[in-house]
Amino acid sequence: MVSLLIVLSISYLLGSIPSSLWVGQIFHHTDIRKFGSGNLGTTNAFRILGWKSGISVLFLDFMKGFVASYWVAMYAFEIGSGPIAPPGWEADAFLMITCGLFAVIGHMFPIFANFKGGKGAATACGMLYGIEPISIGISSAIFVVVVLTTRYVSLASILGSFIYPISLLIMRYGLGYNVDGSIIIFATFIATGIIVKHRSNIKRLMDGNENRVNIYGNKDK
Ligand code: G3P
Repeated sequence: MVSLLIVLSISYLLGSIPSSLWVGQIFHHTDIRKFGSGNLGTTNAFRILGWKSGISVLFLDFMKGFVASYWVAMYAFEIGSGPIAPPGWEADAFLMITCGLFAVIGHMFPIFANFKGGKGAATACGMLYGIEPISIGISSAIFVVVVLTTRYVSLASILGSFIYPISLLIMRYGLGYNVDGSIIIFATFIATGIIVKHRSNIKRLMDGNENRVNIYGNKDK
């Protein structure tokens, strides 16, 4: 029990690392909470700090989730012995996804940034990639298509999150994949949390004034 609490604490602290804030402060002397959407996430890092820092933040936020769900859970409990999940890893899916969930909670409510963090999409993507890569691949593909066609990153994050638990259900009940039930329950919980965190974006989307990303040049905001 004590070791479980330690591992969950490590996962939370890992998720709490405010990559976008620290990258902005260290390399740009900029607090991105004061600019753009004010969100401590990859999109606002791209928007305010540029693509190099944006990619760095994306990588760091992704890795927080991946490391928590995969390495922390696997190694702390000596479930696995290397970077390849052992046969029967589904039996420990609950522990992995719990560690990942604590990393996402840390990202959303970071102790190192007054408990006001990002929306969790990149960190959730990392944690879920460490657990069930096929569905997260589907969500990632949807994310890319929506960004390329609409240039709304928020809409892409919302739809990618919404699709994730649905694709897990289809994999388990439609295609016969051995997807652990706890993954589906936690994935639903996480997807809901990400969508709720996007409520200000949802309002802007409905009002028609959400920011678009400038992937085709500086045509508009
Ligand atoms: O995942 C965050 C993204 O979907 C929206 O970020 O900065 O536009 O609110 P932002």
